[in-house]
Amino acid sequence: MRPSLFKLCGLAAGLAAGLVIALPCAAGTDGAAVYQQICVACHQAGAVGAPGLAPSLVGELSRRADRPAVRAYMAQVVVQGLQGPIVSEGQSYNSVMPSQAQLSDDELAAVLTHVVVGLGGQAQAAPFKPEDISAARATRQSPKALRAQREAALGG
Ligand code: HEC
Repeated sequence: MRPSLFKLCGLAAGLAAGLVIALPCAAGTDGAAVYQQICVACHQAGAVGAPGLAPSLVGELSRRADRPAVRAYMAQVVVQGLQGPIVSEGQSYNSVMPSQAQLSDDELAAVLTHVVVGLGGQAQAAPFKPEDISAARATRQSPKALRAQREAALGG
């Protein structure tokens, strides 16, 4: 099993301090490292996507990540994956993204924040919170319903 970045972070902080105290390590979870370990294989460097493989995460999606509905949709995609036809930045995809639910809430919040703020350049966007991810975990949808959520969130 891949060790959790969050746990490694807590361990390093604990050793450095020489104390067993709960440090606010979640704030330090490295979204860029998670992206490089997992997402980059499909979404490419800079999350610009690749036609036929995986969509860009830094176009419309990041620009509209100020909308609560878009944020909820993104959190839902990382916890349950996505499949079926979508159109992104004028490109058609009909592929499968595997669920990333094995990552912790902190890791998934950090990687989405990295995508939108770091790679997408949306400096004003609020960071994703672990609670956004746990809320998504509590929701289960069919791939079709999730694609309908996408349309509703990005449309208009
Ligand atoms: C194995 C390849 C793969 C990996 C790894 C992967 N994705 Fe995806 N992702 C996809 C594909 C393919 C789609 C589009 C699925 C479809 O065609 O319906 C997608 C869609 C998405 C979407 C929705 C895009 C949109 O326009 O609606 C988000 C958000 C996303 N991925 C984020 C991530 C993040 C963050 C990670 C890393 C934690 C990640 N993905 C890892 C392949 C991948």
